[in-house]
Amino acid sequence: MSIIFNEENKIFTLQTKSSSYQMKVDSYGLLVHTYYGKKIPICDMSYNFENGYYLSFSPYDAIAQPWNPHSVDMLPQEISTYGNGDFRESAINVRQADGSLGLELRYDSYKIEKGKYSLQGLPSFYGENAETLVITLKDKVYDIYVHLYYGIFEEYDLITRAYKVENKTNSAINLEKAMISLDFFNGDFDLVTFHGKHMKERMLQRNEVFYGTSSVGSSRGASSHMQNPFAILCDTNANEEYGSVYGFGLVYSGNFLISASKSQNRSTRVNVGINPENFNFILEAGDSFVTPEVAMVYSNEGFGKMSRCYHKAIRNNLCRGKFKTARRPVLINNWEGTYFDFNADKLVAMANDASKIGIELFVMDDGWFGKRDNDLSGLGDWTPNEKKLQGTLKELGDRINATGMKFGIWFEPECISADSDLYRAHPDYAFQMPNRVPSESRNQLVLDMSRKEVRDNIYNQLEKVLNSANISYVKWDFNRHISDLYSVALPKDRQGEVFHRYILGLYELLERITANFPDILFESCSGGGGRVDMGMLYYMPQVWTSDNSDAIDRLEIQYGTSFAYPVSAMGAHVSTVPNHGNARVTPLKTRGIVAYFGTYGVELDITKMTDEEKTEIQRQIVEFKEYYDLIQYGEYYRLQGPFDSTKFYTVWEVAKEDGSEALVASVRNRNEAGFVHEIIKLNGLIPDKFYRINNSEKLYSGAALMEHGLKMEYDFFAYPARLYHITLAE
Ligand code: DGJ
Repeated sequence: MSIIFNEENKIFTLQTKSSSYQMKVDSYGLLVHTYYGKKIPICDMSYNFENGYYLSFSPYDAIAQPWNPHSVDMLPQEISTYGNGDFRESAINVRQADGSLGLELRYDSYKIEKGKYSLQGLPSFYGENAETLVITLKDKVYDIYVHLYYGIFEEYDLITRAYKVENKTNSAINLEKAMISLDFFNGDFDLVTFHGKHMKERMLQRNEVFYGTSSVGSSRGASSHMQNPFAILCDTNANEEYGSVYGFGLVYSGNFLISASKSQNRSTRVNVGINPENFNFILEAGDSFVTPEVAMVYSNEGFGKMSRCYHKAIRNNLCRGKFKTARRPVLINNWEGTYFDFNADKLVAMANDASKIGIELFVMDDGWFGKRDNDLSGLGDWTPNEKKLQGTLKELGDRINATGMKFGIWFEPECISADSDLYRAHPDYAFQMPNRVPSESRNQLVLDMSRKEVRDNIYNQLEKVLNSANISYVKWDFNRHISDLYSVALPKDRQGEVFHRYILGLYELLERITANFPDILFESCSGGGGRVDMGMLYYMPQVWTSDNSDAIDRLEIQYGTSFAYPVSAMGAHVSTVPNHGNARVTPLKTRGIVAYFGTYGVELDITKMTDEEKTEIQRQIVEFKEYYDLIQYGEYYRLQGPFDSTKFYTVWEVAKEDGSEALVASVRNRNEAGFVHEIIKLNGLIPDKFYRINNSEKLYSGAALMEHGLKMEYDFFAYPARLYHITLAE
């Protein structure tokens, strides 16, 4: 039992393997958050608040005065509302039918269920290996109910949260904010977030949580390259292996906000959820609204353990479908090899060469449909360009299959070019504000996915294409953010719903297509890593991590991405040099090793490679497959990150959970003179066992490798990389 309810004292305690989480219904019916942190035996942790809590200028419950001031501004709460005296950042704002903003949520009831709750229309973690707690709160005055959902995955130290707001009054109310909040009553924290831009996603940034509010978010209609919907609150001295850290991952792909606020009494409140900017949802009498889920992992052993919990939970209880467990094929994508300049003969020539060296899947990227020889036109017209394909799509697929390869294809279903037949027929399908010319980005507009007829049109086009040929893989791209937001399908007072309805529409479309084509491997993409979030991973088990394929820049991108997301989700390809993004030249071996710690694929014109280079790729594929299970399902350790300018190497490791085998990868990411040898401490081994390194005769003690470390070998050329395969000696 991971959910324990003490009926007498009205205390809910959630116990995971290493964490405890507690709430208590206080004597005023308020659900107070009493504890979240390292696992402790069950006891009532409300003693610090039981005699009331009060400071000047903090309003309190009128019935409590004067002896026992009960100030909501001071109390740590499970869900914080605005309007009755809590001046901190609220989680939920409801504007009542009379225009007031009061919402005083008080305990009503609870239920405990086996298995994990699901959320209508939204992605969420799932599984029979979880338990669900639902606590229902009700407004003191009106029939507005909030059902708080908790999913407890004991093994992963994962607690998920979401809630449903139910309007059981006779009038419409406005939901102006719907976030999850978590109060820490004591302590000083840092906030770690992951910012970036196109081609440089998920750069780690760490800042002290100061008096006031620090926040990151997106109002771009997508989770975005610029900020990731994942953040960590941690002890100021926490590191990879030490300290209390709390991860917050939002299972959502649209506008979001994550904030950490420190108040006068040193309490810290974290808010996570849909960005309240441009959000206003009307709930008519009888309507309800479900928030996206927040996935929280607590680790008392630093960032590393937290990441490993997320990796397992995402792999096993978020990703779905056949390719959750099936080995994904090694692919070649033609984008960096040809861009728009290809025809079928060119693709088949590439496929031919690729198949000879062990590549298993050929992916035809952008440019195969409509009028699409550049990015000025064609999006929305998902009809194969038979001139360019020198026949039907089926014929091309068959030609690719004849080389021994599977065949995959690119789509950008959410966007439309003004120069397309679809736009000419339905200009209103694209977002645009009345009387204004919409702004283009990459020469394209965004389709209003909140509308069913728009989704149906796109679905029907995609379905036709997918049924017309033997297609094994789909890359689902999204190459701009949403401006000019306005839906002709909604009245003016409901325009604040459009961003969220867009995401609900996208999820509905993704559910439909992935359910109807269960044998297809789907990879999500948004100009590379613009929608790397837990929401998309529910529908597609892998994502193109970044359009930046340079091995050295990838060290930073994959390092940042690894804090929340597993290796199995990270699309990573070997591309040509000089790299198309930054002109850097790196050894082919280094490019391979970096791509191994992702899905490993190739993205270049293979017909232009020398025989020697092809042999090296062939060797890499064999090596990658040999280590596939270890890499994809192993425990991931960041041993040395790429950001320390005094260090030369980036080093990471994957180890079997039982410590019997590990693979360490090192890349020299700083090409500077003044090199000193670096000794790196390994992790995840068995201290009292001995190991061989790359089949060495010499034996190394597990304890020594972890406590004393291993010297990274020196190679005198630019950006060398090495693998150290650590195996248990008999
Ligand atoms: C952006 C993607 O990230 C690229 O890999 C490629 O698919 C292009 N779009 C095609 O337009």
